Amino acid sequence: MTLRPVRFDDLDLICRHRRDMFRDGRGMDPAIDEAAGPYRAWLEPRLRDGRYFGYVLEVDGKVAASCGLEIVDWPPSPRHPHEARRGYVSNVFVEPEFRRRGYGRLLMEAAAAEFERRGVSYAYLHATDAGVPLYQQLGWQITNEMAKFFTPKAR
Ligand SMILES: CC(C)(COP(=O)(O)OP(=O)(O)OC[C@H]1O[C@@H](n2cnc3c(N)ncnc32)[C@H](O)[C@@H]1OP(=O)(O)O)[C@@H](O)C(=O)NCCC(=O)NCCS
Repeated sequence: MTLRPVRFDDLDLICRHRRDMFRDGRGMDPAIDEAAGPYRAWLEPRLRDGRYFGYVLEVDGKVAASCGLEIVDWPPSPRHPHEARRGYVSNVFVEPEFRRRGYGRLLMEAAAAEFERRGVSYAYLHATDAGVPLYQQLGWQITNEMAKFFTPKAR
């Protein structure tokens, strides 16, 4: 088993893992495909320059799992009074045949270590139902986030 940092040539893999993560978590939502092209365009420069980082886990030369990490601009808050940024974890995905072998946990432990290495003290994520027990076991807390849709008048 090898845990390695994501590379630029993982672009297609990350996009596929993101799509499959949403499908597993939300079923067949047409918005998943609608977002795929714009997401790829968003990811490409960030993967190239390292603003998007993270890990790919390979088992016997086959990709088993991956996750994405970012450091996001965020005003200092009671949760991180001295830092104007937060970590963000996305695209946590373990291929179905590799689940329940501890690989999700391994990715999340690597993510935590990497944030700490970069001096980040607080991170957030958006969890699927399947992800919640894993994250809670690792000390992630349910927070008070709310969201609402708007009708933009301009783009
Ligand atoms: C959620 C997911 C990442 C878990 O990965 P995994 O490698 O299977 O997780 P692990 O083997 O490290 O699990 C560690 C522990 O988390 C808990 N856990 C993991 N998956 C679970 C599930 N589907 N339901 C309930 N508990 C779960 C268990 O306690 C597990 O320990 P155990 O197997 O000894 O009981 C994986 O199922 C997945 O990729 N799902 C589809 C995409 C997704 O939902 N990603 C999360 C996005 S937020």
